[in-house]
Amino acid sequence: MKDIIVNLLSKTLNQKPEVIEKILEIPPNNEMGDFAFPCFFLAKEFKKSPNEISKDLKIKLKKLPKEIEKVEVNGPYLNFFLNRKKMVVDIVKNILVEKENFGKNDSGKKKKILIDMSSPNIAKPFGIGHLRSTIIGNSLAEICKANGYEVIKINYLGDWGTQFGKIILGFKKWGDEKKLNENPILHLYELYVKANGEEFEDEARKEFAKLEQGDKENLKLWKKFKELSLREFNKIYDLLDVKFDVISGESLYNDKMDDVLKELEEKKLLKKDAGAKIVDLKDEGLGVVLIQKSDGTSLYATRDIAMAIDRKKKYDFYRVLYEVGAEQKLQLMQWMRVLEKMGYKWSKDLVHVAHGLYLDKDGKKFSTRRGKTVFMKDILDEVLDKAKENLLKRNVNDKDLDKKAKKIALSAIFYGDLKNNRENNMVFDIDRFLAFEGDTGPYLLYSYARANSILKKVAKSKGVIGVNELNQKEIDLAKKLDEFSIVVKKAYENLSPSIIANYAFQLAQIFNEFYHECPVINSDQVSFRRGLVESFKQVLGNSLSLLGIETLDEM
Ligand code: ARG
Repeated sequence: MKDIIVNLLSKTLNQKPEVIEKILEIPPNNEMGDFAFPCFFLAKEFKKSPNEISKDLKIKLKKLPKEIEKVEVNGPYLNFFLNRKKMVVDIVKNILVEKENFGKNDSGKKKKILIDMSSPNIAKPFGIGHLRSTIIGNSLAEICKANGYEVIKINYLGDWGTQFGKIILGFKKWGDEKKLNENPILHLYELYVKANGEEFEDEARKEFAKLEQGDKENLKLWKKFKELSLREFNKIYDLLDVKFDVISGESLYNDKMDDVLKELEEKKLLKKDAGAKIVDLKDEGLGVVLIQKSDGTSLYATRDIAMAIDRKKKYDFYRVLYEVGAEQKLQLMQWMRVLEKMGYKWSKDLVHVAHGLYLDKDGKKFSTRRGKTVFMKDILDEVLDKAKENLLKRNVNDKDLDKKAKKIALSAIFYGDLKNNRENNMVFDIDRFLAFEGDTGPYLLYSYARANSILKKVAKSKGVIGVNELNQKEIDLAKKLDEFSIVVKKAYENLSPSIIANYAFQLAQIFNEFYHECPVINSDQVSFRRGLVESFKQVLGNSLSLLGIETLDEM
């Protein structure tokens, strides 16, 4: 609907549609029409007051398209009143034709976006930050796709670095094959903690240097640790139903270190500092970037630089989104700035999409540790169990119990995270997340299932969507449904899944109000109302799929 007004104004005023679209507003109440166009921005160009401009504009808009009933001047605003009966029917018809494509656009056509996400560290527990990165990265991927981009999801494993010296040393000293196979991450983590003492520093450094030089035994151990860790991580990904297009890792860039050093040297960016090599960004308030340690080993930043250059060659990306915790902001800014200084113009296309922390109910940092370590898998299993309990309490006990519980549990975790502005810290409160009432994933699944049950009770009529009289709730619902396309664009522009999540919740609330006020079954406009319900089901489903949440036809 918005498009019609945007096009009309863009033609009449000879302005770009994008400009009009940005400033066109939805008025605070219905008496002021369906859209309001503020004329302030034209004052300079037309050398007139905004009030005069809106008056003139109304005169210019003599011939209105049939979708628009009337236009009214309201001070500096021009208010548009749509032909509501036609509007609601058009909205419903359009959604039912477009189905899962409703809301999508192709502004990203032929452009590739890489999403660097999840990225846990080998031989270490999968942390809560990795969970956030997985959930948010997964949703961003869907949002980018809905805006027409080609997306490549990359899991960039932390599989290289001096810590492997410690782990290898620990394993050589105290390793136990049986324990390793039973619970690899726990065992390797214990060995790492044990070998982390100062007294082992020298030995550990030597083991890592050997690994970097390709020592057979150390490489073999490293490979094994990596395989076993991945096996554990994959259990989590399976549970979450998240897939990647590429499994990458820091180790892949180990042999590109010398190239980076050489290039930095040639571009006169490298400085010596007590035996180490650095790039000095102190003047820009970004400190010093350590490129190579005094013992010759490479660092995280160096690998990130090599990786970015390599990816540009390989994928010729339009953008790369790094879904990484906010606490790594400085690190990312540093190596991105180094790339810029190296003359890579595309460094501006690298974006740190940061997320905040999970907090406990008492506001402290949520810890995945109880005793020594607790594993993400255990936390997720706990959520699954609780979801099942909830279902049993509601007397749901059918053959699909496990499947339902899993979908409900995932909706709780995904939505519980994604409804928050990603940069904020958030409280990880499973019982709240799982509640059937309120701003939760299960509430949304429930609303979806409710729509489905109405649809099952009312037979589909053949094509006629007649409206006799419109109830305000019907208008509200139709308008909200129609807003989805704009919401999809906004979510991409802000790289913000919460925009979709908040929309989905508002939509469900409006639907539930509609449902209480407007009976479908015995209505004299049953075909229209059924269409509204079906459209709601479609659009809520589309929204949830952008969050990575699968729906249930029945709860
Ligand atoms: N493995 C890192 C960690 O667990 C995150 C890596 C983020 N991605 C990147 N390209 N630096 O903290």
